[in-house]
Amino acid sequence: MPDRHDMFIGNQFVPSSSGTYFPVRNPATEEVIAEVAEGAAEDVDRAVAAAERGFTEWAHKSPYERGRVLSRMARALEADADAFAALETRNQGKPIRHAKGFDIPNAIETLDYYAGATTKLHGTTIDTGPAMHTFVRREPYGVVGQIIPWNYPLMMAAWKIAPALAAGNAVVIKPAPYTPLTLLKLAGLARDAGLPAGVLNVVTGFGPVVGRAITRHPGIAKIAFTGSTATGRDIVLNASETHKPVVLELGGKSANIFFDDVDLPNALKRAVLGVFHNAGQMCIAGSRLLLHEKIHDEFVQRMAAFAKTMRIGDPRDEKTQLGPVVAARQMERVLGFVSRAKAAGATVVTGGRRAENQNRGYFVEPTILTGVDHKSEIAQEEVFGPVVAAFKFRDEDEALALANDSKFGLAAGIHTNDLARAHRLAAGIKAGTIWVNTYAYLSPAVPYGGYRQSGYGRELGQEGIDNYTQLKAVFISPNRG
Ligand code: NAI
Ligand code: MG
Repeated sequence: MPDRHDMFIGNQFVPSSSGTYFPVRNPATEEVIAEVAEGAAEDVDRAVAAAERGFTEWAHKSPYERGRVLSRMARALEADADAFAALETRNQGKPIRHAKGFDIPNAIETLDYYAGATTKLHGTTIDTGPAMHTFVRREPYGVVGQIIPWNYPLMMAAWKIAPALAAGNAVVIKPAPYTPLTLLKLAGLARDAGLPAGVLNVVTGFGPVVGRAITRHPGIAKIAFTGSTATGRDIVLNASETHKPVVLELGGKSANIFFDDVDLPNALKRAVLGVFHNAGQMCIAGSRLLLHEKIHDEFVQRMAAFAKTMRIGDPRDEKTQLGPVVAARQMERVLGFVSRAKAAGATVVTGGRRAENQNRGYFVEPTILTGVDHKSEIAQEEVFGPVVAAFKFRDEDEALALANDSKFGLAAGIHTNDLARAHRLAAGIKAGTIWVNTYAYLSPAVPYGGYRQSGYGRELGQEGIDNYTQLKAVFISPNRG
């Protein structure tokens, strides 16, 4: 019997109003490992009511007290890191070495960063002349709604929850239906760390029902969303009914650019990390590999040789490098992109199929494509799987033009030893994050977000907490009242 998990409202695990549950699978085995409460609009109503009560208590705590609770959450997560990593791997399919080495530490670091940020929220005073004393306060919104995806379930939860709570808001958050388990565990941890009832509420269920109810709810003042570009559009439309501000972190089709002066073995590692890590299920995936014509063939051939040696399999095994994608539907989606690319004339240098040697699980071979038209679907749409298309460029101008030939603008990698060129491209590429001679480096201290259709608003850093505050201007006359 799979475990049963209820949703989390007002510091209690409670069944959904309908009493129904949906199955959650382990993508490496296809087994149903849990049944999770299937929320409806009434459950969002309950969560918002609890959050309104929680907000009153939370917003009246001193920033220092709020920071202490976030700190205790960080320490509790650290103490239980192995169990969280194992659960993330079981539910999401990512290799345990990545869950342990990246996802959980990043979530802890994010909680710590915002624990420290609670005491650094500053308003301003503005000189409006001697006839008025004028200042601007930063205040929390109240109840904020958050909707997160399934690629980094706990880390995305921490990115959303930590700054919102730090600023004094209460949260109603919905995990992706594929991957609700680590967030539910985090909710129990938060309660044990002393978070008052109602400050964090987790409503589990499906996007078109629970996600939409959060987005449209008049009691929710702001929405933060990470996920697909199509869903982002739906969220903005629904949020507009009540004029909620929205922060969007959407898809990407990031260029990872390699010049002919790079050290090939090192460069290769960054290309591999950029697109095969987390089975390519990264919004920042460097899924367009732009290679200088002098190194293109050797680079592709060496990357393909490496891809063939990647250890695909049981993500619980410390040696596994590539786990499954999150669900059958995602596997079919990824393979659909590859077969349409082939039909459009692309060459599959390596991969391109389900990794059948695993017998079960949603494993996709690491895949490299060449001969791709840069205007075609595989070059322009987010695949969200271990699939990369390689392109040749002649010179810096062509590299820049190709990099910017995208509706997205989340990130880019530039690999070169020519510092002036790195600066020129970093300035010229239209993307929210640029990495030079590295890839996928993230820090909770640094703002993160997209240009163009990769979204708007910024998470993390000081901007991340500013997101969850609104400004109030106060004019105080020196005259007697
Ligand atoms: P999605 O964007 O539909 O799902 C993300 C979250 O939004 C989930 O919690 C989902 O339940 C919720 N959601 C779905 N529809 C909603 C709605 N109408 N209103 C409110 N919330 C809603 O992503 P999906 O369908 O699971 O994946 C499809 C593709 O989206 C992927 O192949 C990938 O290309 C892209 N994607 C991109 C992500 C990123 O971080 N850039 C993350 C997840 C998916
Ligand atoms: Mg969807």
